[in-house]
Amino acid sequence: MAFHAAMLSGLVAISAIFGVVNAIASDNVTITEGGWDYARATFYGPSDGRDGMGAACGYGNVFDLGYGQETTALSTALFNDGAACGACFEIYCSNAPQGACKRGSIRVTATNFCPPNYSQTQGAWCNPPQKHFDLSMPMFLKIAEYKAGVVPVMYRRVKCWKQGGVKFVMGGNNYWTTVLVYNVGGVGDVKSVRVRGSGSDWTWMSRNWGQNWQVSMGLLGKSVSFEVTISDGSYIQHIDVVPSSWGFGMTFEGKYNFH
Ligand SMILES: *[C@@H]1O[C@H](CO)[C@@H](O)[C@H](O)[C@H]1NC(C)=O
Ligand SMILES: *[C@@H]1O[C@H](CO)[C@@H](O)[C@H](O)[C@H]1NC(C)=O
Repeated sequence: MAFHAAMLSGLVAISAIFGVVNAIASDNVTITEGGWDYARATFYGPSDGRDGMGAACGYGNVFDLGYGQETTALSTALFNDGAACGACFEIYCSNAPQGACKRGSIRVTATNFCPPNYSQTQGAWCNPPQKHFDLSMPMFLKIAEYKAGVVPVMYRRVKCWKQGGVKFVMGGNNYWTTVLVYNVGGVGDVKSVRVRGSGSDWTWMSRNWGQNWQVSMGLLGKSVSFEVTISDGSYIQHIDVVPSSWGFGMTFEGKYNFH
């Protein structure tokens, strides 16, 4: 970790001197691949996985955002008030009755919330303190038989492998700017975001919901930079990733991603 921080600050210095570095390349992330834990899994959504499965994380239609079918909703115990949005998990079915498990594991990105239902007496799998994955149907069917409905699983956090750079969807109004941060590699879950309009200083954004971040500041007509920090502390500065001609609803892709 010490090496990591030193390496990053070195790169910050370099970019400050030359002013041309578009991003700070992230160091290798260190996350524990191997800490398996128990949970359960069911499925939700349409059979092809092509539907809005990202509402609670602010992603909207995750299929269109490039997450494909490899997505899951998380129960309260795993969702962490939206902080877990974007995290990736490896999951396999373990010891389901009647041989309902299939061989092999899946890797999915957390894109939604499975809400608790306290008035339900049976099958309320997403109620605290239960750890539960509500998988897209195609992903569930890779690890278990449809008829099983709900299966015990083992899971662990894994790195997210994303193609291309971190992506930003601009929103808000003349006095308030929001950004949806997605397609995040490395540990995947964004911990904090700072924003900088051309001619201003870095300002912290706050989490609006899921991976939607906000700041009480209008930025129309300015080029915009974002500094994205993920939960292991790695960060990337996407300098002027948004050109001054940006409009609400437009998406911009950074040149870099976490690995
Ligand atoms: C990062 O990971 C790559 C591939 O696993 C490895 O070759 C390299 O030495 C690592 N770099 C650091 C700084 O740990
Ligand atoms: C919660 O569970 C009750 C009892 O099963 C059911 O009637 C109700 O529709 C559920 N609520 C939601 C929001 O799913």
